[in-house]
Parts: sequence; structure tokens; C-alpha cells
Amino acid sequence: MILLTGGLGYIGSHTAVELAEAGYDVVIIDNLSNSKIDVVDKLEQIIGSPVKFYKGDCQDEELLRRIFMENDITAVMHFAGYKAVGESVEKPIEYYDNNINATLALLKVMKEFGVKNFVFSSSATVYGRAKSMPIYEDFEVSAANPYGRTKLFIEEILKDVQHADNSLNIAILRYFNPIGAHKSGLIGEDPNGIPNNLMPYITKVATGKLDHLNIFGNDYDTKDGTGVRDYIHVCDLALGHVKALKKLETAPGLVIYNLGTGTGYSVLEIVNTFNEVCGNLVKYEFAPRRAGDIDVCYASPEKAEKELGFKAQHTLKDMCESSYKFEKNNLK
Ligand code: NAD
Ligand code: UFG
Repeated sequence: MILLTGGLGYIGSHTAVELAEAGYDVVIIDNLSNSKIDVVDKLEQIIGSPVKFYKGDCQDEELLRRIFMENDITAVMHFAGYKAVGESVEKPIEYYDNNINATLALLKVMKEFGVKNFVFSSSATVYGRAKSMPIYEDFEVSAANPYGRTKLFIEEILKDVQHADNSLNIAILRYFNPIGAHKSGLIGEDPNGIPNNLMPYITKVATGKLDHLNIFGNDYDTKDGTGVRDYIHVCDLALGHVKALKKLETAPGLVIYNLGTGTGYSVLEIVNTFNEVCGNLVKYEFAPRRAGDIDVCYASPEKAEKELGFKAQHTLKDMCESSYKFEKNNLK
């Protein structure tokens, strides 16, 4: 059985589906701080069998012990955490507290129960302003905000913990920009309030909840002046976790992989593709650059392809279509 922390969230829920399809049983813990309980029903509809769920906080060691006692857990995938860059600047204590202490609590209880395999949700944000593109896993790391620093610190903690006990197997997965949704339209990215990220903002413009998209900057040194990112379909990303888990089953120690496609798309390319899919519903205006943004960021996906056999399959059109379908379903 695989324990997914934060398994009702955007990436965790899609990973639960891929794990179930690959024949794994999953158990989820989530405190619902950024997700809704109805995701359990949706997951059960997609998977076609009951999903074991514990409502609670990963910092609650007693609850973790109960979960490990009641379930035969062989690996943990740790998605739970706060993830909004801007908010982390306003609320650094909450970010350090939640992201780091939840990880420590999990590692402690895993040790007590002799659970050896751990997958951690890291981020391309740990590369900061990379010296060149594409970004390889051995590039220097740095962080520009408290959120990014929680990821960096946790990566360091994991290295120390694995160094002290080399029977542990840890996969640090550095995600690039996940977008898209499950093809059923039942689960997807559903942020509270006005979205910060590009795709949730676009889908809300397409469905009339927001008036227009502000494109942050059209004077970057890129193909059309707008920012370039490596957008990866969340179902591909989820499959990357299954592949990483299989790798951990071969006892590799600590491994680090980029999960991206290797292709960079500009904001304008995303909007234009989305407009093809939805029928020109997304109006946009150019606005000043957003503080802290970089011009270009895309992965080298080579290491994950070579060592995990992972290669993203979905197209940008798939990503736009599925995001739009989820948003429309969510209107009901
Ligand atoms: P999300 O907010 O949708 O999911 C996180 C889930 O964790 C939520 O359901 C939330 O309720 C839960 N949670 C938070 N703190 C918790 C705690 N202490 N105990 C129990 N549950 C808790 O986020 P996501 O997009 O699915 O991201 C998952 C992970 O991937 C996060 O660690 C995030 O930092 C990382 N990540 C995300 C992105 C992205 O663009 N979405 C990019 C890089 C890395
Ligand atoms: N953008 C707009 N308008 C918007 C929102 C975004 O033009 O309303 C642009 C941004 O300027 C950027 C691109 O769209 O060029 C993507 O922006 P996102 O906010 O969707 O994603 P980021 O690449 O800025 O950040 C994401 C995650 C972070 C993570 C980072 C690096 O949200 O958590 O990738 O991995 F740290």
C-alpha cells in the first residue's frame, strides 16, 4: 500500500489514479487545507473501488502512527505542503512550519515502522535563474523565496537522512509546470480565490469568471517576448511517480529527476492553443513583468527517460482541452 500525503490535491489525486491503474493500493492523508473532500468520491468514480482516506495533518505523528499501524505501507509519496510563492513571502513561518515539519514527522514515523521508500515533490524552482537551458539535474540550486527555500531545505534534509541510513530509497522529483486534468473531467486544478498560475487563470477567463488574462511581460528575450515554461500534463507527471516508485523498488539510494517535457512554450503559444480549443474565449492584455519571474525555464528530461523509462506523451492541445473540460464541469 502506498501512502499519499496531500493525495486530494491536484498532483496527488492524479497520481492516485495512475497508481491504482498500475495495480497499487493507495491510502491518502490530507488536511483539506487546499482541497475538497468530494475528491474522494471523484477518485472512487475514476478508479472504480473505494479509496481509503484519513482527514488530518501530516504533522500529527499520532495520526501517522495509526495510519501506519492500520495499513501495510511500503512507500510514501509526499505531496502535502503549501505551494504559493507570493503567499510564502507574506507568511514564511507558516510555510517553513508546514512544509518542513510535515516532512520531519513523516520521516520519523517511517523510521519507526521500517518503511524505506519515499518520493518527494520538489520543484524546478530550486534551479533559480539557471545558467543555461535545458536544465540538468546537476545544475546549481538556489531559492528566491521562502517556498523555494522549503523545497531546497527539504532536499538537504533528505540527503542527510539517507546518508545516515543508506537502506532508505528516496526519489526527489523536480516538477516543471504541471497543467491539464484527468480526461474524465472529474479531477483537476481547483485553486481557492483568484489563481496565480497561468492555466487556472486562463480557464477562468474562458468560462467567464474572470474578464481577461494579463500577460506578464512581452519584452523577454524569448521567441515572442512572453515567458517560456516547460508545461507538463499532470497525468504524465503522475505516471512519472509510478516510474519513480518502480525505481525505488530496485533500492537505488537517493535519486533526483526532473519531470518535464523538454519543450518550452511561451505564454502566447499557450493562449493561442487554448483559444483554438475553446473557440477564442480568452482575451488578453499585456501587463508589466511579474516580480521574480524568469524569462525561460525548461527541463532536460533525458535522465528520467534513460533511468526511469519516463517520457511525457500528452500534447499541449491535450493539456488545454482537459483543463477547459475540468473547469466547465466545475461550473455545475
Ligand atoms: P495542492 O495544494 O493541490 O495539494 C497539496 C495537498 O496537500 C492539498 O490537498 C492540501 O490540502 C494538502 N496539505 C497541505 N498541507 C498539509 C498537511 N500538513 N497535512 C496534510 N495535508 C496537507 O498542490 P499540488 O499542486 O498538488 O502540489 C503537490 C506538491 O507538489 C506540493 O508539495 C507542491 O509544492 C509541489 N509542486 C507543485 C507544483 C505545481 O505547479 N502545482 C510545482 C512544483 C512542485
Ligand atoms: N503568467 C501570466 N499571467 C498570469 C499568470 C502567469 O502571464 O496571470 C505567466 C508568467 O509570467 C510565466 C508563465 O505565465 O511566464 C507561467 O506562470 P505560472 O505562475 O503558471 O508558473 P511559474 O513558472 O511562475 O511557477 C511555477 C509554480 C511555482 C514553481 C515554478 C518553478 O507555480 O510553484 O513553476 O517550478 F516554483
